[in-house]
Amino acid sequence: MHYVDKVVITTLVENYVDMLIPDTDTVKRASLASHFDPRKKKIRAENGISFLVEIFFGDYRSKVLFDAGLTGDTLLHNMEVLGISPNEIDHAVISHGHPDHCGGLLGLLQARDYPLPVALHPDAFITRYCVFGTGIVVPTYSQEFRKSELEEAGGTLVLTRDPLQVAPATFTTGEIPLKVSFEPPGPPGWNPLKCIRDGRLEDDHTLDDIAMAICVKDKGLVVITGCAHAGIINSIRQAQTVTGVKAVYAIFGGFHLGFPGVSDENVDHTLNDLKSLKPSIVSPMHCSGFNTLATVAREMPDQFLLNTAGARIFL
Ligand SMILES: [Fe+2]
Ligand SMILES: [Fe+2]
Repeated sequence: MHYVDKVVITTLVENYVDMLIPDTDTVKRASLASHFDPRKKKIRAENGISFLVEIFFGDYRSKVLFDAGLTGDTLLHNMEVLGISPNEIDHAVISHGHPDHCGGLLGLLQARDYPLPVALHPDAFITRYCVFGTGIVVPTYSQEFRKSELEEAGGTLVLTRDPLQVAPATFTTGEIPLKVSFEPPGPPGWNPLKCIRDGRLEDDHTLDDIAMAICVKDKGLVVITGCAHAGIINSIRQAQTVTGVKAVYAIFGGFHLGFPGVSDENVDHTLNDLKSLKPSIVSPMHCSGFNTLATVAREMPDQFLLNTAGARIFL
């Protein structure tokens, strides 16, 4: 297995902005001064997730976009604030076909002058409905994500259920097997997500939700998730299997524990497994839920990293 020399992760979209968190050696954020400077555009928060992962491998540099947030408007706005051009990106990975992860992709492709390879699971384009217990049906859930439009805008779609190497020592997990007893997280027997498969309306288990892993020299794995519908521990385990690297250095992304009905017990099981992996950084984001953030912050204070839109993380 090759290892990259270092990785810089820029959080382009995240649910959270906080102008008061001080910088550290590892994390640099938009400062209070720039938030209040009337001449400057400000970083925006949005329900969604997007990272730019810069990989340093000898003289080689590669920039991989992982997810694209909910809207191209916010993604492109935040990229402009951070001084990142849409043309800089070498490869994109879309974790799954939910709008808060893929919604900004079309706008990004349209803003580029070059085609962009985009890795994703074929189920990302499945027809989806959300049917809540209250009777509310959301038919527009994922129907704005269309292959033809993306291809027309310059997306070279790489559809696979398997792991894929997208840069040196950088892999998607492919479809994530369910091996952990307490995952996928969520109340048993209730799934508001439905999809049409082979002409039938079925429960949607979001099989398309993949993660990404980078093997970093002298550190170990950096694991990045979208929503982790399969569960964060299953996602990490699959990253270990795909790369053959056991040491987990850092975890960023959605843990999918903020969903209504997820029990405290479920969060505790996750915490115990996270502790046993002995990571240096744990950064629950997006759909992880306040309880998860609070639990990790309390129980793993030295590892907890509160990520915010616009943060630059040096690993
Ligand atoms: Fe999702
Ligand atoms: Fe999500």
